[in-house]
Formats: sequence, structure tokens, C-alpha cells
Amino acid sequence: MRQTLQSAALTLLFGAWIASASAQGDAKRGQYLAKAGGCLACHTEQQKDAVPFAGGRALKTPFGTFYGPNITPHPEAGIGRWTEADFIRAMRLGERPDGANYFPAFPYPSFTRIPDADLRDLWAYLRTLAPSSRASRAHELRFPFGWRLLVTGWKWFFFTPGPFVNVPGLTQIANRGAYLVQALGHCGECHTPRNFLGGPKRDRFLAGGKGPDDKRTPNLTPTRLKKWSDEELKEFLLTGATPDGDAANETMDEVIRNTTSQLTPGDMAAVMAYLRSLPPLPDEPR
Ligand code: HEC
Ligand code: HEC
Repeated sequence: MRQTLQSAALTLLFGAWIASASAQGDAKRGQYLAKAGGCLACHTEQQKDAVPFAGGRALKTPFGTFYGPNITPHPEAGIGRWTEADFIRAMRLGERPDGANYFPAFPYPSFTRIPDADLRDLWAYLRTLAPSSRASRAHELRFPFGWRLLVTGWKWFFFTPGPFVNVPGLTQIANRGAYLVQALGHCGECHTPRNFLGGPKRDRFLAGGKGPDDKRTPNLTPTRLKKWSDEELKEFLLTGATPDGDAANETMDEVIRNTTSQLTPGDMAAVMAYLRSLPPLPDEPR
């Protein structure tokens, strides 16, 4: 009797475990999404033998220098004590577990468009990383930009949280591309011009502007890209080679290596279909 009860209890427990495991994200998919999101670049120091995702990458902006933090599952140095809900909140709302704002140098204004299912997969992947004890470095920001409360005002003007919804009138494949470009790929963080408060000009989406380090980024709408054939555009997004024999500069080259060259052929076609579908916008005046 006792044994049957025990085995019944075990079956129940095991069943519950299976059920909860299947409700969890898929780490393998999460790894692909992390590539499409370019997480590695900003969260890994720029030097040989740097531990992936252990933080330390310097991101220079007009407001000062940000350092991507350690996002490995280390309990003190990383985010090992976080729950999945903490992670979803950080990505969707740009809020720390204690409620303070993240700075938008962490591209959550784009990542907020990632739906819950994909966020769960990303989280499952981050949990598989080897924990690193490398301490995150404090940002070095100009006064008063280091004040996280200021971000509340910035968010009020420039931040619309919520997952991606299909753009009406676009084909299914172009909508997949819209998701990859707007949310995971966060292409607009560099290719959309900003006002003096660092807010993106929404009606000038992807029309080109100033990227990080104040370098100009080209217009990604058909105004400019219609001169490139599909083959040329694909070649650039895979290798960085431009039709006139140039190579992409360092900033875009990194995006190509870590992100666009890692896309499946289907997702690459989707990104291109979406870029082709954009309304042609004039270049940003100098
Ligand atoms: C453009 C650079 C950049 C990219 C790309 C980026 N991050 Fe970050 N991330 C940051 C910065 C900077 C911070 C710190 C923000 C702050 O301190 O307010 C951060 C913070 C975080 C945090 C909070 C860590 C903590 O200790 O509070 C998580 C989680 C995170 N990023 C996950 C991701 C994931 C997942 C991806 C890919 C989908 C990603 N990041 C891509 C720059 C980036
Ligand atoms: C970190 C900033 C950054 C991000 C993010 C970024 N780009 Fe770029 N991109 C640049 C810069 C800078 C250039 C200019 C490269 C050069 O002049 O060599 C560029 C150039 C390009 C070009 C060449 C256009 C031309 O006319 O020369 C294409 C196409 C492009 N990016 C597509 C994308 C797509 C698609 C994404 C999102 C998946 C993306 N970029 C994300 C910074 C960025």
C-alpha cells in the first residue's frame, strides 16, 4: 500500500515536472534569438579571451559611456537570482527588479516589441550560460544623465511598451521582417535619427541619422537602397561587402558578424522584404 502511494506520488511529481518543463522556454531557439538580437556584442568586453555575456563592453554616447553588464547566471555578479518575470519586465518595460529605470542605451525601446514566448526562450538560453564572477562596471555618465529618475521623463515622451503587432497591409514575410528589424534587430536604434533629447524621430523611422560615436548611418528606406539589387543587399548583410567594392565600417560590420549573417535564409529574406516595403523617406539634413 505504502509503496503504491509512493509511486503514485512520484508519478504525480514527475508529471508536474514535465508540465512545468514544457511551459519553459526553448534554450536552443533562445540562442538563435540572442543572435538576432545582438546581445553578445554589448554584453562582452572587447578583448581577446573575454568571457561571453560577462559584461564590460564600453558604449560611448553623447551622455557618457555605458558598460554592458554581466548577464550570466552568476548569483552576485550576474543575474542568477532573477526570475523569468524579472527578465520579462526588464525587456518589456525597461525596469530593474527593484523598479528603477534602465537607461535606453539598453535597447529595450526596441526589445519591448519581443513577444512573451520569444522572451521566455531568450531567458531559457541565458540560464544555460556558464556563470561568470566578473563584476559589472559602473557607467560613467555626464551630469545629470546618470540619474535614473530622469529616464522616467524620457520614457514618458519616447517609450511605448508592448509586443510587436503585424503591420496591416504587409505580406506575412514582410511582417516577419518588420518584427526582426523593429524588435530583435533594433536596427532603428542606429538608423533612425534622434532629437536633442536622444528621442527617436518616429516619423523618420530608419531614414538614417547619427549612430553611436556620432558616425552617420545611412538611410535604409528605398530612397537609397532601391539602387541595390536584392543580391547586393543580401551580400552586404551577409559579408559587409558593398556593391562598389567597399566594406562596412566597424559599427555595422559588428552587426553583420553577430546578427544579420547569422539569420536563417528565411529570416534574411524577411528582413529584405520589409526594408523594400518601407515608405521612401528623404535623407536627414546634415
Ligand atoms: C546596444 C547595446 C545592447 C544590446 C544590443 C543589448 N544590451 Fe542588454 N544592456 C545594455 C546596457 C547598456 C545595459 C545596462 C542598462 C542600465 O544600466 O540602465 C543592459 C542591461 C541588460 C539587462 C539587465 C542586467 C542587470 O544587471 O540589470 C539584461 C537582462 C539585458 N541587458 C539583456 C539583454 C539581452 C537578452 C539582449 C539581446 C536580446 C541585450 N541585452 C542586448 C546594452 C545592450
Ligand atoms: C550599432 C549601430 C547599427 C545597428 C544596430 C545597425 N546598423 Fe546598419 N549601419 C550602421 C552604420 C554605422 C552603417 C554605415 C556603414 C558604412 O558606412 O560602412 C550601416 C550601414 C547599413 C547598410 C548599408 C546601407 C548603405 O546604403 O550603405 C545596411 C543595408 C544596414 N546598415 C542595415 C542594417 C539592418 C538591417 C540593421 C538591423 C538588423 C542594422 N543595419 C543595424 C550602424 C548600425
